[in-house]
Amino acid sequence: LLFGTGSLVVFLLIIGFGAFYKGAQPPSEKITIDPQNVEAQESFKKENLGLTKVEDGKYIVNVVASAFNYDLGKDEEGSNVKKIRIPKGSTVLFQVTSTDVVHGFELAGTNVNMMVEPGYISSYETELNETGEYTLVCNEYCGTGHHLMFAEVEVY
Ligand code: CUA
Repeated sequence: LLFGTGSLVVFLLIIGFGAFYKGAQPPSEKITIDPQNVEAQESFKKENLGLTKVEDGKYIVNVVASAFNYDLGKDEEGSNVKKIRIPKGSTVLFQVTSTDVVHGFELAGTNVNMMVEPGYISSYETELNETGEYTLVCNEYCGTGHHLMFAEVEVY
């Protein structure tokens, strides 16, 4: 009983520390987007799908997830981008939505890990301070092609 109560107190203290001291809060502001509304989806894409440089060291990455692909825009030759390159030390805001089902958005090895829901734009800002190749993976089972859903981010 003592052990059980003790663990409970420890867990509550950890949650309290995270919430009140470290500021980990559920999103207070939800940005919605109608997954059935083709125009809304198109205008989200037009705000530069993929990597956009805002200023030196500041980037935005807009992504539309769908079964079983991360749409990161097109390159100059018109083919789908499967890899984005970001300079080390940059602050990057990831904004992701889905057109069909719930997908995951995890940049393995970093603290970027979001659930992507149709109808909402999930966003997370992080600093990428270590060079390397990071795999962007879907970590929510989304159908038969779930394991094919990945892309790459290189920090150089
Ligand atoms: Cu998308 Cu699993």
